[in-house]
Amino acid sequence: MNSTTDLKIIHWGILGCGRIAHKFAQDLLTIPTAKLSAVASRSFEKSILFGKEYNSVSCYGSYEELCLDNNVDVIYIATPHSFHFEHTMLCLNHSKSVLCEKPFALNSNQVAQMIGLAKEKNVFLMEAMWTLFLPHFQYVLNMVQSKELGEITNLKADFGYQFDFDPTSRIYNKKLGGGSLLDIGIYPVFAALSLIGFPDAIEANAKMSSTDIDENCDILFQYKDGATAQLYSTIIEKTNTEAIIEFENGIIIIHQQFHAPSSITVKTVKKVEHLKFNVSTFGYNYEAEHVTELLLNNKKESPIMSFDKSIQLIHLLDLIRGEIGLEYN
Ligand SMILES: NC(=O)c1ccc[n+]([C@@H]2O[C@H](COP(=O)([O-])OP(=O)(O)OC[C@H]3O[C@@H](n4cnc5c(N)ncnc54)[C@H](OP(=O)(O)O)[C@@H]3O)[C@@H](O)[C@H]2O)c1
Repeated sequence: MNSTTDLKIIHWGILGCGRIAHKFAQDLLTIPTAKLSAVASRSFEKSILFGKEYNSVSCYGSYEELCLDNNVDVIYIATPHSFHFEHTMLCLNHSKSVLCEKPFALNSNQVAQMIGLAKEKNVFLMEAMWTLFLPHFQYVLNMVQSKELGEITNLKADFGYQFDFDPTSRIYNKKLGGGSLLDIGIYPVFAALSLIGFPDAIEANAKMSSTDIDENCDILFQYKDGATAQLYSTIIEKTNTEAIIEFENGIIIIHQQFHAPSSITVKTVKKVEHLKFNVSTFGYNYEAEHVTELLLNNKKESPIMSFDKSIQLIHLLDLIRGEIGLEYN
């Protein structure tokens, strides 16, 4: 950690200047204790253009150079899924703290190695599962934990958008970790994991594309207490992208898009309540603020998006991939 922590500012680096990196950089500007210090792209010109837009001090034409920058405390990894392992290991090996985009990696084995190296190097690591930090999702989690509406009996969550077929895109290219499950199905799966818990039985079916990735994925989780979760993701059609949580004594609907800043409706026999949560950003500032705060306090793991949670999440994704016969090499 560099001396800037004395000034109560955490210096961020961004690795990979794609679509999500732009949104993240914009939200980072809203955090007083965070500063974008450096960005890195495979193309130097692209890093300059990106850096200028968000007032980055340094811009690099290789990811390695970013890791060598002594002013950078933490690196946000925003490359395609299939590179999360390699790029996280690169940063950790340079003793840089890491916030890595979801999915954390392609499989449990990679995640175990990433966490192992973070512990060995004694540096911070977290999966960027931003939903968990959003105000509406925190509100719902609190309601679940308080048991105000009783136990959850069923969850229905979907995430679907229409992506034009392009075998070279990260969505359809198997080498880039393509498919609906890892890209967006991860959100319904994560909702079930965080709201109900790790399931006792899993069933899944998928329709595969000509590039051998899942175009859609239909998942059923069953729990010993009788609760169920019906989860769905697709890259061939837009769906409601909402979450409906049925409890013993009521229903909560997280409106579209349930994984992003959203509103909720709480229904009981006595009343129907609509709740709005004022979020003026894309919503990535909540996770970034959390990481910034933890780093200012010299923490190495998030108590909210913990290693254990990431291990459970990737294990679930592995099990679902086993059910649908989807393997990444
Ligand atoms: N949290 C969220 O809401 C959210 C939303 C969207 C995506 N994501 C996640 O963020 C990651 C990136 O998604 P994205 O939509 O931003 O993707 P993207 O627009 O394609 O950007 C990915 C970037 O990765 C770098 N890259 C390095 N090697 C690459 C390769 N062989 N092919 C393509 N790009 C390569 C490129 O940056 P340079 O050219 O600058 O090196 C590229 O711009 C994914 O893992 C995805 O799951 C998260």
